[in-house]
Amino acid sequence: MIADTPGLMDEIRSRFAHVETCPFEGRRIFFENAGGALHLKSVVETSAFHAAIPDNPGRANAAGTRLQQIVETGKADMRLFFNARSGRVFVGESGTELLFRLVRAAALGTEAGGAMIGSTLEHPATASARARWAGITGRAVIKVPHDDATGTVGVEAYRAHLTPDIRVATILHTSPVTGMAADVAAIAAAIREVAPAALIVVDGIQHASHGAVDVAGLGVDGYAISPYKMFARHGYGVAWASDRLGACGKDNLAGGPADNWELGTRDAGAYATFSDVVSYLDWLGGQVCDSPDRRARLEAAGRAIAAQDARLARAVIGGTGTLPGLGAMAGITLIGGDRIDGREGVVSFRAVGRDSPALVEHLRKNGIRVHTRKADHYSGNVLVPLGMADCVRLSFSHYNTEAEVARFLSVMQGLTS
Ligand SMILES: Cc1ncc(COP(=O)(O)O)c(C=O)c1O
Repeated sequence: MIADTPGLMDEIRSRFAHVETCPFEGRRIFFENAGGALHLKSVVETSAFHAAIPDNPGRANAAGTRLQQIVETGKADMRLFFNARSGRVFVGESGTELLFRLVRAAALGTEAGGAMIGSTLEHPATASARARWAGITGRAVIKVPHDDATGTVGVEAYRAHLTPDIRVATILHTSPVTGMAADVAAIAAAIREVAPAALIVVDGIQHASHGAVDVAGLGVDGYAISPYKMFARHGYGVAWASDRLGACGKDNLAGGPADNWELGTRDAGAYATFSDVVSYLDWLGGQVCDSPDRRARLEAAGRAIAAQDARLARAVIGGTGTLPGLGAMAGITLIGGDRIDGREGVVSFRAVGRDSPALVEHLRKNGIRVHTRKADHYSGNVLVPLGMADCVRLSFSHYNTEAEVARFLSVMQGLTS
């Protein structure tokens, strides 16, 4: 869709900063999008503008009034992005901080006793929050095992572990190590069938830049994302919480509104840069559909991004032109297998007999930026069961091209042949 529309890829790439060149290292192909996506040029401009403003939103002067409007517009854009028809959207320190906060509010706010459930695929952002707050609230932790072969966790695996006393559940939308997405809607529905009162918190941090987010459709209570992984900038996270989760007690200023999730003075620049991301997705959606409805355009953008992701994944794994893909290269093991369906922007692999950091360095010297995942507290949950000390993660986004994949494959071919 994107690559087949004349001129569209160039238009897309022209909207991002540092597409082909790193200011520190020179020319490189950027395949480290799961670590942090390219930033929109509009975000860079907006950030610089707001960095210079001394005023606070809401003060009785022109600056305070305008900044408050920017915050309100940002919130409206966040609601549209999440498809949040109720509940609250808010900004926090990071995606991790927000996930801790959502899990803590759920653990402390729900009925005492019972259990908390999550899967072994989860990033420590939810896994650690679950362990900590289950410990403090005296609850058992139920861990649903993921499938090493496919790199994901299915609804049937959850079903086998569900009990009516589950109070809090965490779900990883997409793994940043295997790249595979879980069927969040089906898992949430299965949890609700058995434990209707459970509060369900989703880590959407890897998913958010690879397809539309629809919290109404997912039927969950909390969802957090990291904007620097979806074309904005570092320094803040964004979350949505349902009215049910919002009704749980939470840290707040005494005497202030009890339903408030926002602590302290707002950084209007964070909200403004999120609006830039939504404007970009709106523009992209308008290139691939002609709907007059803004949410429909965001969803169309999500489909176009997912289609380009799948095209790139097919090229990385299956090859492009005369170049074989990783799936056909001797000595390469793909983490989570060679499935394209359900893969969102990541192909992780290990080369037999090769140290992954050395391979990452070799690719770096050839102008290709990828990243090592180690069997540490971030990725050990996936790598240790596979008997791997590390792997190479190649992660792409919709602005990457098949020509860039071809360059990567030719370097890999030179190495493995
Ligand atoms: C799925 C997932 N969850 C949580 C995190 C942590 O995000 P942050 O460091 O932005 O808080 C990451 C970061 O890579 C991630 O990919």
